[in-house]
Amino acid sequence: MKKWILSLFGLTAIASLLALTPSRTTTALSADPREDSLAADRAKHVKAIKEAIVGKEKLPAEQVFKNIKIFKGQPAEAVLGIMENRWSKTLGVSCSHCHNLNDWASDEKNDHKIASDMVAMVGKINDEVIAALPSYATKDRKPRIGCSTCHRGEAHPGRPNGTRPAGR
Ligand code: HEC
Ligand code: HEC
Repeated sequence: MKKWILSLFGLTAIASLLALTPSRTTTALSADPREDSLAADRAKHVKAIKEAIVGKEKLPAEQVFKNIKIFKGQPAEAVLGIMENRWSKTLGVSCSHCHNLNDWASDEKNDHKIASDMVAMVGKINDEVIAALPSYATKDRKPRIGCSTCHRGEAHPGRPNGTRPAGR
């Protein structure tokens, strides 16, 4: 009897999971309705770049790409993963927010420079500010922050959604 109930439970759970999956993947990404088209755009660019670097995915990024300063030593494919799944998503943007799409290595866009500065800022907050907090002096595990601590899907944290410039 118990077994029967359990397996029924299992079946219902799987069935409802399957039923939920399509709608979930679209809504779970973000509450922002633009997220789907952003995700498609990012995937398109990553696919094209992956095709261009095929066979070199595991090499250090600086040997594969032209203008790597932050991610030296990281596999090229890992950098693409950070671009697609971390930075772009965390800011709620696609690649063109920071890149000239005709020249990925270019850092002419201001947001490219800001992103680099933010990496330095996050490093300082974690390694200098948080590391020196007296209240955590005796703790082994100290808090750490990352891009998503502030951005949470927004390019402009702290500003209401409505004031975000259109098309971003
Ligand atoms: C928030 C800004 C930002 C976003 C969004 C972003 N990038 Fe980047 N990207 C950078 C920065 C900064 C670097 C330089 C990294 C370094 O110095 O190691 C970079 C480096 C790269 C490089 C290496 C270029 C070279 O030749 O040196 C590629 C390729 C790249 N990004 C692809 C993408 C793709 C594809 C997307 C979208 C899925 C994307 N980026 C989204 C900021 C961004
Ligand atoms: C301590 C909070 C905080 C953290 C952590 C943080 N940012 Fe920011 N970031 C901000 C604020 C505030 C702005 C200014 C937003 C505005 O213009 O209204 C900003 C702006 C930006 C912009 C410019 C956006 C635009 O469209 O003008 C980029 C790009 C950016 N951040 C990337 C990053 C990246 C990448 C990381 C992680 C390495 C990061 N940020 C971590 C607070 C933060």
